[in-house]
Amino acid sequence: MNSPVMQGLNLQTPAFVKNARLIAWVADMVALCKPERVYWCDGSQQEYDRLCQQLVDAGTFRKLDPVKRPGSYLAWSDPNDVARVEDRTFICSRNKDDAGPTNNWMAPGEMRATLQPLFDGCMKGRTMYVVPFSMGPLGSPIAHIGIELSDSPYVAVNMRIMTRMGKAVYDVLGVDGEFVPCLHTVGAPLEPGQKDVSWPCNKTKYIVHYPETREIWSYGSGYGGNALLGKKCFALRIASVMGRQEANGPAGSLGWLAEHMLILGVTNPQGKKYHVAAAFPSACGKTNFAMMIPPKGFEGWKVTTIGDDIAWIKPGADGRLHAINPEAGYFGVAPGTNEQTNPNCMASLDKNVIFTNVALTDDGDVWWEGMSAPPAHAIDWQGKDWTPQIGKDTGAKAAHPNARFTVAATNNPALDEAWDDPKGVPIDAFIFGGRRSTTVPLVTEAQDWVEGVYMAATMGSETTAAIVGQVGVVRRDPFAMLPFIGYNMSDYFQHWLTLGRKLEASGAKLPRIFTTNWFRKGADGKFVWPGYGENMRVLKWMIDRLEGKVPGTRHAFGISPSYGELNWEGLKFSAEQFEQVIGIDRAAWAKELQLHEELFEQLASRLPPELKTTKARIEQRLGSS
Ligand code: GTP
Ligand code: SPV
Ligand code: MN
Repeated sequence: MNSPVMQGLNLQTPAFVKNARLIAWVADMVALCKPERVYWCDGSQQEYDRLCQQLVDAGTFRKLDPVKRPGSYLAWSDPNDVARVEDRTFICSRNKDDAGPTNNWMAPGEMRATLQPLFDGCMKGRTMYVVPFSMGPLGSPIAHIGIELSDSPYVAVNMRIMTRMGKAVYDVLGVDGEFVPCLHTVGAPLEPGQKDVSWPCNKTKYIVHYPETREIWSYGSGYGGNALLGKKCFALRIASVMGRQEANGPAGSLGWLAEHMLILGVTNPQGKKYHVAAAFPSACGKTNFAMMIPPKGFEGWKVTTIGDDIAWIKPGADGRLHAINPEAGYFGVAPGTNEQTNPNCMASLDKNVIFTNVALTDDGDVWWEGMSAPPAHAIDWQGKDWTPQIGKDTGAKAAHPNARFTVAATNNPALDEAWDDPKGVPIDAFIFGGRRSTTVPLVTEAQDWVEGVYMAATMGSETTAAIVGQVGVVRRDPFAMLPFIGYNMSDYFQHWLTLGRKLEASGAKLPRIFTTNWFRKGADGKFVWPGYGENMRVLKWMIDRLEGKVPGTRHAFGISPSYGELNWEGLKFSAEQFEQVIGIDRAAWAKELQLHEELFEQLASRLPPELKTTKARIEQRLGSS
C-alpha cells in the first residue's frame, strides 16, 4: 500500500510552526504511523468544543445535562484500560544500571526494534493530533515544552485542560527551541470501512522512556498517565532525569527535583503564610489535602492550592527551595469525593469537566461511590444497569475505583494566587505519607534532613486502584516515586542528600521533613483517624513545630506530638483513640526495618552509605528506647 504521503496526505505545516526539528520529526512519525490525516491543535475554545462534539458523535463522550453539569462530558473506557500499567512501563537508558533495579529496562536499540513494527501503520484510518504543550507557565525559565503526537482526540482535549496547550507554545519554541517529543497511539488502526469502537486501545501496552534522548513512546492505552504524556512520563520520569543531570552540569548548579507532590499554602489567622509540599502515593490523598477546608476550631485559617500531583522544585537565589506546579489542571480520583470530604473539589466539578469511568444517572448527571446517597438506578461505568441492590448482590461498582475527573485548576475555589507564578513558592516543609493500616504513626518529624530522606526513602504504602494489579498490598514506595523515577533510585536518594548538604553548607534554611499516615485501622477494620479536613490538626502541629511552639515527644524515628499538642476543638477524639494512631509497636517496627533492609539490599550497588548508617542509628535507638 502507498504511504499516506504518497496518497497525497497534506503534510503542510501551518505557518505558525517554524521549528525545523519539529517539522522533520512529525514528517518521520507520519511516515511511520501512517495516519489518514494530521491535525495541528491550536488550543482554542472552538477547537476544544469541536473535538468534544466529535467525541460525542463517535460515542466516546456523552454530554451531561447542561443545567446540572454545564460544559461537561462522560467517557467510559475499555474495561481493560482503566489505570496506569507499571509492569508495561520502561526506562530505556543505555546502561541497565542507570535505570536501576526498581525500573523495567530494555536496551534502547532493542526497544526501538520492538516498537518499530507495532508503530508501523498504527494510526491507519485515524487522525494524528499534534498537541503542543508547556509544563509550567508559558515562556517562564522553569517551564519545558513537549509536543505530543496522538491518535486520540480524548487525549487532545484532556491535554488542553491538564497543560498549557496551544498555538502560543510555537512562539516560545521558535525556530530552534527544545522540546520533548512524545509519541502516543492507542494501537488500534482502522482498516477501510472498519467501524470504530468507543474506546480504542490494544491488549499490548508499552509506556517507554528514553532518558538520554528525552523521548517518550506510548502504545496501546488511552487512559490517564499512560496517555496524557505531559504528566507522569514527562513531568516526573523525564523531568527527574533532567533535574539530576543539571546538578552534574556547570559548576555551582545544584540541579532540581521533579516530585510526586501536591503544593499548598496555609495562612494562619495572623496572616502569616507557609508553603508545604507533600508526597503521597497514587490515590492516597494529595488532591484532598491540597484543597482542604480547615474544620471547626480553626477559624481564620486558610488553605490554598498551588498543585495537586506534581511539583518541580528548584533552589532559588535566596537559597530556599521554590516549587512550581507544572500542570494546569487536575486528573483526580472521583470515588470518595463528596461535600464533606472535599467541598472545594466538589465545587471545582460543577462545570466544564471531563469525567472518566463514573456512573451516569437517569437525569444526565454523574455519580460515584462515596459521592452521596446512591441513586435508585444508574448506568455503571461499563454501560450496564446498576441499582444499589445489584451493587449489593454482585459487588458491581457504579464507578470504577480509579474513575477520574479532568478539570482546569482555575475551577478550584481554593486556588492560590501564586499557582501560576513562574518564581514558585518557597517550601517550609515536606511531608511524605503512605497508606498503612498498621505500624506507621499519624505524624512524625524527622530529626534532620538526612533522617528525613531516610524516612522518605523507606516509606511503604498499600497499593491502590490507580495501578493495574492487586490492591492493598504493602510495598516500598520511596518518596511516593517508585513508578516515577526515570533513573536509578539510589542515585535519586543521593541527589536529595547532596542537594540538602550543599544548601545547608551555603547557610540556607532547609524545609523540615515530616511523615504522615492517615490510614491506620482499628480492630473493626475502619480508619481510626477521621482524615480529610481534620488533617488540618496535624498540619497546624507541623506549623507549631516550625515556629518552635511545641516540644513534641522524641522517639526512635523522630518527633511526634503528645495528645495535648493537637488542637481538638470541634472534634471528639479521645487520648485512647489518639494512642491508636500515634503509638509505636516495637515488634511491628522490627519487622518494618526488615523491609527497609530488603529495599536496601535491592538497591545495594549504588545505595548512599549515609542511609545505611542512619538505619543503624535508628535501630540502635529502637533497641534502647
Ligand atoms: P493521584 O491522583 O492518584 O496521585 O492521587 P491523590 O494522592 O491525589 O489522591 P486523592 O486525594 O484523590 O485521594 C484518593 C482517595 O483517598 C479518595 O478516595 C479519597 O477519598 C481518599 N482520601 C483522601 N484523603 C483521605 C484521608 O485523609 N483519609 C482517608 N481515610 N481517605 C482519604
Ligand atoms: C497517579 O496514578 O499517581 C495519578 C493518575 O496521578 S495518572 O495520571 O493516571 O497517573
Ligand atoms: Mn499522581
